[in-house]
Amino acid sequence: MDKSILVTGGAGYIGSQVAVDLRASGYLPIIVDNLSRGNLDLVKKLKLPLEVGDTNDSQFLQTVFKNYSPVAVMHFAALALVAESVADPAKYYSNNLLGTLSLLEVMRQFGVDKLIFSSTAATFGDPQELPITESARQAPINPYGWSKLMMEQVLGDYGRAYGLRSVIFRYFNAAGAHPDGLLGERHNPESHLIPLAIKAAMGGNKFSIFGSDYPTQDGTCVRDYVHVADIAQAHILGLEHLLEGGLGGDYNIGNGAGYSVLQVLSSVEQASGLLVKKEFCPRRSGDPAVLVAAADKLKNGLNWRPRFPELEAIVETAWRWHKSDDQNSF
Ligand code: UFG
Repeated sequence: MDKSILVTGGAGYIGSQVAVDLRASGYLPIIVDNLSRGNLDLVKKLKLPLEVGDTNDSQFLQTVFKNYSPVAVMHFAALALVAESVADPAKYYSNNLLGTLSLLEVMRQFGVDKLIFSSTAATFGDPQELPITESARQAPINPYGWSKLMMEQVLGDYGRAYGLRSVIFRYFNAAGAHPDGLLGERHNPESHLIPLAIKAAMGGNKFSIFGSDYPTQDGTCVRDYVHVADIAQAHILGLEHLLEGGLGGDYNIGNGAGYSVLQVLSSVEQASGLLVKKEFCPRRSGDPAVLVAAADKLKNGLNWRPRFPELEAIVETAWRWHKSDDQNSF
């Protein structure tokens, strides 16, 4: 029988892509999602077991663990909008912190000791060194980043005390869509650069560039965009590491290359053949000028080999997805 893997947040952008790849790798992903942000129509297409409920609901989780006997958990379920976390930190600590603690308790009750945890570049705050290695100082500048860093600390403590083995992945800028067009990015509300740029290209509305006076080559922010299929690959490698008895660890997921907002916009224009009308606006609060990951630990430690390291390929898959998504709000 295929090994069951619990995938919380499996109806979301990254979780759903990982679920597809888990299935293709011979595992049985069990999707757990409260559908507060996930997309039911997309997850239904996957034809995988779906249990609708919240990670804060221990009874619900206990039933799921009892019914499926998962051998490991991948925990994507979280809120992940920086601005929202500043406006409503209680929501973030309740979801991201308490939800994860509740999940860990049920894992302990059922003797499940393997966890893949989604963390974020936001745990680094304003980086003091570039590219950002795993040993860089972690000093978040918003409640979202704090909620994830606090959980990183908890996982370390649980590992030492209870033998929990966890792989922590810190995502830089997840982007792109499943290469076969099955799944892609659909947030509501949307706040991310590439979907909004594509929306502007398709709809003819103006794209707002947040800040033009950053200390970067063209004055706009620089980010490390990483294809969601490559993020999925890292998760399968992390899982196999744990299943083979590995002790776990922390890894940044990025390509080690930074692109400015203007570079991304011109890549969208190239992929779509359409013009993106732009306007320069004030900086968005909480945006560091440059976030670029050092990808060596993931490549050397887990043998990660990104298939889409180039921005053009990332944007091209995103463009194809948004063009075909019949429920896009563009
Ligand atoms: N941007 C614009 N205009 C927009 C949207 C974004 O200029 O309409 C700029 C942002 O200012 C930023 C860049 O495009 O410089 C990328 O912005 P995104 O919102 O796409 O992504 P972020 O880098 O802000 O966020 C990502 C993850 C978060 C994570 C954060 C860590 O999506 O979950 O990195 O800093 F918290």
